[in-house]
Amino acid sequence: MTRKILVTSALPYANGAIHLGHLVEYIQTDIWVRFQKMRGQECWYVCADDTHGTPIMLRAEKDGITPEALIDRVHGEHSRDFAGFHVAFDNFHTTHSEETRTCANEIYARLQAAGLIEKRTIEQYYDPVKQMFLPDRFIKGECPKCHAKDQYGDNCESCGAAYTPNDLIEPYSAVSGAKPELRQSEHYFFKLSDPRCQQFLRRWTQGEGRLQNEAANKLQEWLGAEGENNLTDWDISRDAPYFGFEIPDAPGKYFYVWLDAPIGYMGSFKNLCAKKGLDFDEYWKPGSQTELYHFIGKDILYFHALFWPAELEHAGYRTPSKVFAHGFLTVDGAKMSKSRGTFITAESYLQQGLNPEWLRYYYAAKLSNTMEDIDLNLDDFIARVNSDLVGKFVNIASRSAGFIVKRFAGQLTTCDESLAAFIAIRERSSGVADLLEGREFGKAIREIMALTDLANQYVDSVKPWELAKQEGRENELHAACTNALNLFRQLAILLKPVLPALTAKVEAFLNVAPFVWNDVASTLAAGHAINTYEHLMTRIDKKQMDALVEANRDTLAPAPQPAPQKHAEKQEKAAAVAAAQAAVPSEAGTHITIDDFMKVDLRIARIAEASHVEGADKLVRLVLDIGPLGTRQVFAGIKAAYDPEQLVGRLTMMVANLAPRKMKFGMSEGMVLAASDPDSQTPGIFLLSPDAGAQPGMRVK
Ligand code: 2FM
Ligand code: ZN
Repeated sequence: MTRKILVTSALPYANGAIHLGHLVEYIQTDIWVRFQKMRGQECWYVCADDTHGTPIMLRAEKDGITPEALIDRVHGEHSRDFAGFHVAFDNFHTTHSEETRTCANEIYARLQAAGLIEKRTIEQYYDPVKQMFLPDRFIKGECPKCHAKDQYGDNCESCGAAYTPNDLIEPYSAVSGAKPELRQSEHYFFKLSDPRCQQFLRRWTQGEGRLQNEAANKLQEWLGAEGENNLTDWDISRDAPYFGFEIPDAPGKYFYVWLDAPIGYMGSFKNLCAKKGLDFDEYWKPGSQTELYHFIGKDILYFHALFWPAELEHAGYRTPSKVFAHGFLTVDGAKMSKSRGTFITAESYLQQGLNPEWLRYYYAAKLSNTMEDIDLNLDDFIARVNSDLVGKFVNIASRSAGFIVKRFAGQLTTCDESLAAFIAIRERSSGVADLLEGREFGKAIREIMALTDLANQYVDSVKPWELAKQEGRENELHAACTNALNLFRQLAILLKPVLPALTAKVEAFLNVAPFVWNDVASTLAAGHAINTYEHLMTRIDKKQMDALVEANRDTLAPAPQPAPQKHAEKQEKAAAVAAAQAAVPSEAGTHITIDDFMKVDLRIARIAEASHVEGADKLVRLVLDIGPLGTRQVFAGIKAAYDPEQLVGRLTMMVANLAPRKMKFGMSEGMVLAASDPDSQTPGIFLLSPDAGAQPGMRVK
């Protein structure tokens, strides 16, 4: 039976940029949702911007815009960043919406009718200049313990002491600088201390599989022993001025942001229901047969495992099936830090030209279903992506697809399904599915890579690149490449939830419909025609990571980029100069050692494709076949001297270990060698060619 599943990720605040820490959650949720969809489940993934509260109101004021304008702008930025990392919400809404307001009002009214809302007068700090009550975070002063100046009202960043604003010495308002006064005000409380809430939560939090063990233990601690009443009532209102929803029948009183934030999950889904014709009640009524899962960070467990289910239960809605809490991200073993440049924004990662799927893969490889923190080790990131994705996975296709296209008109022959690697992938794919279902992504990736190793062992044993050189072995070559491509296809199916964009390219070049999970059981029929293979993924260069860290050092703002047009021109010119000067000896005439020379990985390359580059005056796009090393895309500044059509099929030489460069037109993954005389009136460009007999991939030295 098809499962009906509603999945959420925590709502990001609408006053800050998405960073790599946030992405730990969105990427893992997205992987899980994509997996469910591939399995044929009806799965909906919703999220929204968390738009209300004092910080957003003050931030808008500081920027000289309305809160509505601020949240609109940020909604655009967040949507762009999520799309950039292939996080595919079915709906990315906003809590500042009529749907959320309606749900919030209704939940509030039902809690009130159940006798679970209470009005109480409290004392709170007030800024007499700004004329507003101040959240603890907006009161500063001297730490009562270590006497550090300018500490926040809730804890001291210098000595770590926790306290209340009352304890601060010489408190002042962080908004206006005025001395805050204690004033009384009437607030609304959700009575969590009510025995009905306590009893319900004891039962709910210990429900089978509802929470991870560590989370259930934490909840047990918060709830205290049976008979104890440890939960205090929750203050759910704030006084004007406030950016949020005004409480019905309570002028000047607003719902506290954390009251309407989780209700934003409902609001976003309601909005989706209207677009898709779904039945909201089917998913939210008590006793619903649908499943509801919240992916959250461990810091907001209290809100999701106490307040939220208690609210839902007593307002007559279903409660979450499960809450999945995860740990925080550290970078190189430490908290993300702006001064170290490890507080990396999603935008800067993409702007630096880094591939989002590198990060998706790395996070998947590190994730488990516990609340443990995960570490992004930058060196390990480079090593693992290069070795697993490029060296192992993509390598299978790059060593076989070219031959099918060139030698067999793109047609596959019969695949040998009795090969050990096929049998292993088929048998072990259901174990991979169980691991993905259980959010054991790291274990799933290890298993998929073990299967990838088996596929590579097969390719190494049949050596298509050697068969290709020997006459009369066409059939063996055809079978070897067909088997290799089928193995590659199966691995791509298993990796699809993690690598959706790369898999889309695979589907295109294999000329097949979008993969579903069960496709792993079948192979491509003999005679199936594939399309031309385009290189699927480049390696990460350490320099790219260094540049990313540099761009994020000290600031959350993205690194300044040259204007796009200028940048493209500069790149084109640089490529043209590089090609023209490649063979010119250094004028200084200083010697290099043989070791220096050997660092340059020169290879014989066959020009497999050559085409004009739209919008570039000097460049030709080449796809270079370097035998067992696969193919490389290179933009060469040779258009003045060569017509692309005449280049296809000829042999030349390339630098194969040049750091890949992101150009306006795509990645350039190396350089072809050409002779030229820049001092002459007619410098010319003369591509180098090897003597007859040289084969693609041969080392030049
Ligand atoms: O902690 C946060 O970033 C909150 N904006 C999360 C809200 S999640 C949910 F409750 F809406
Ligand atoms: Zn202190």
